[in-house]
Amino acid sequence: MINWKDSYDIGVEKIDCQHRQLLVKLNEFFEACTNQQGKEKIEETLKFLKEYTLEHFSDEEHLMQDIDFPELAEHRKTHAEFVKTVLDLEESIKSKGVSVLSTIKLNRTLTDWLLNHINKCDKLIGQCIASKGNQAV
Ligand SMILES: [Fe+2]
Repeated sequence: MINWKDSYDIGVEKIDCQHRQLLVKLNEFFEACTNQQGKEKIEETLKFLKEYTLEHFSDEEHLMQDIDFPELAEHRKTHAEFVKTVLDLEESIKSKGVSVLSTIKLNRTLTDWLLNHINKCDKLIGQCIASKGNQAV
């Protein structure tokens, strides 16, 4: 279980709320896997995680457009890579199920990616907005 830290905040309320929520969804998914809650429950939590991820990335990309964020294309690419990881995961769970070991590994990969992405890439969005005197939001 990974907890949110205030230092992860990028200073944009809507996005910060979504990031918190995303971490909740990730934790729910991994809990379902590690507690071996059954394929149905695991698939259901992964579905929520996927849908929430798509919604969040779309909102974030719209925000970047609105503020003329200079690295939008790069940023979009990293989102697409994460979505692909989640879709591949969905496929693999459908066909092969989940093992505890692969879950632990995956937990690290997805969570590390998310927190890294927030700290390195999403923080730039907050800085960009702050540099424009918060006029864009
Ligand atoms: Fe992002």
